[in-house]
Amino acid sequence: MTIKPLIILPDPLLRQVSVPIETVNAELLKLADDMLETMYDAPGIGLAAIQIGVPKRMLVIDVSREDEEKNPQVFINPEIVKSSDDLSLYEEGCLSIPDYYAEVERPATIAVKYVGRDGKEHMVEADGLLATCLQHEMDHLNGVLFIDHISRLKREMVIKKFTKLAKGKAV
Ligand code: NI
Repeated sequence: MTIKPLIILPDPLLRQVSVPIETVNAELLKLADDMLETMYDAPGIGLAAIQIGVPKRMLVIDVSREDEEKNPQVFINPEIVKSSDDLSLYEEGCLSIPDYYAEVERPATIAVKYVGRDGKEHMVEADGLLATCLQHEMDHLNGVLFIDHISRLKREMVIKKFTKLAKGKAV
């Protein structure tokens, strides 16, 4: 397993729409392992492939608490098939937007169809943190970031700050 460099705002890669995965093979599973390694190292609770520069529809999640056993989960070609009308509010962050947090409202319960690392189709009903995390990561597959769900003013401030930071590094 290898820790990969993270793609950071305002890298245009983050706005790219990822493509569906056709085959679950050893190469793809290695990518999943690298994503998990990178996520745990950060540390974070979710990561989409595009965040390490690979525009494929795959994400990894582990929302287990510190006092629980690790629970790495891999979602390939995930799709929301049902979402609740009731919403829940979570303070979100993103490994591609380090040290910035904001409250985002999303459907509280969702049903997601996906392909697992076994190559088979699965369905999961998620609520709480897992529901929020799945929606946040699935947004990444469509080039959407959590800051797209906050006010325009706040979003523009964040983008400006990270654009400045990136320029500083380039010099
Ligand atoms: Ni994110």
